[in-house]
Amino acid sequence: MNNKIANLTQAVQLNEQDLLASIDRQKLPGHIAIIMDGNGRWALKRGLPRSLGHLAGMESLKDIVNICCDLKIKVLTVYGFSTENWKRPQQEINYLMNLTVEYLNKEINELCEKGVKVNSIGILKELPQSVQDIIANSVERSCNNSGLIFNLALNYGGRVEITDAVRAIAAAVEMGCLKASQVDIQTITDHLYTAGQPDPDLLIRTAGDCRISNFLLWQLAYSEIWFTNVLWPDFRRQHLLSALVDYQRRERRFGGLQK
Ligand code: IPE
Ligand code: IPE
Ligand code: MG
Repeated sequence: MNNKIANLTQAVQLNEQDLLASIDRQKLPGHIAIIMDGNGRWALKRGLPRSLGHLAGMESLKDIVNICCDLKIKVLTVYGFSTENWKRPQQEINYLMNLTVEYLNKEINELCEKGVKVNSIGILKELPQSVQDIIANSVERSCNNSGLIFNLALNYGGRVEITDAVRAIAAAVEMGCLKASQVDIQTITDHLYTAGQPDPDLLIRTAGDCRISNFLLWQLAYSEIWFTNVLWPDFRRQHLLSALVDYQRRERRFGGLQK
């Protein structure tokens, strides 16, 4: 199936060497977040079922994890399934869940060899047991790795994440462990699924829609956003390198003035 998918994929031929040469290794983003969108449209364009778009998207994910490892990026967060994606037909949901299991089963050895530390963000307990099990296994097997932190956002929603954080903080106040006046930005940051991790420096969304779709609402406050029309199954390392070149041309002011 992978060959078939590879033949169908029409990744734009950008010169990888030129792109690599123009990247400043000292100014790479510490954290890259990706909204991997457009699998369904990729399949539709080819008269294929949506499921084959999701399957093809796995090749993109492998390529992007590899380039992030090569570039020694610290954190990569990928949006795999949102809290709103339960609205999709059950058959598609089942396919996506099985694909997650298959992906981790197949890739965990290689991920560990590359020093990747697998982590999940989202509400795990609502996912099928098979998904919960493979995630627990992958997280445990990779917990001592010191390379790329790979956050899989599954059953993730930014609003639910913030709501959960507020609830936990309110409970601490109720129990007298914390005063309401002590709650600050850091308190909330520390109660998110991404506690201890830097905020994304760069957010990429594929497939042309220019929206956040409930992804990392708190953490994206000052992220640079890069939208591309390329559909996720066509997205390859060259596209990521293009995003990095563009990112490095930008001036991040964080509300301040030009240096
Ligand atoms: C992204 O592709 C994958 C998930 C949201 C799970 P889509 O399935 O949203 O593809 P489009 O946007 O319909 O093309
Ligand atoms: C966002 O894509 C979620 C993931 C990529 C997992 P969607 O396809 O669900 O987003 P909308 O519905 O177009 O906003
Ligand atoms: Mg979509």
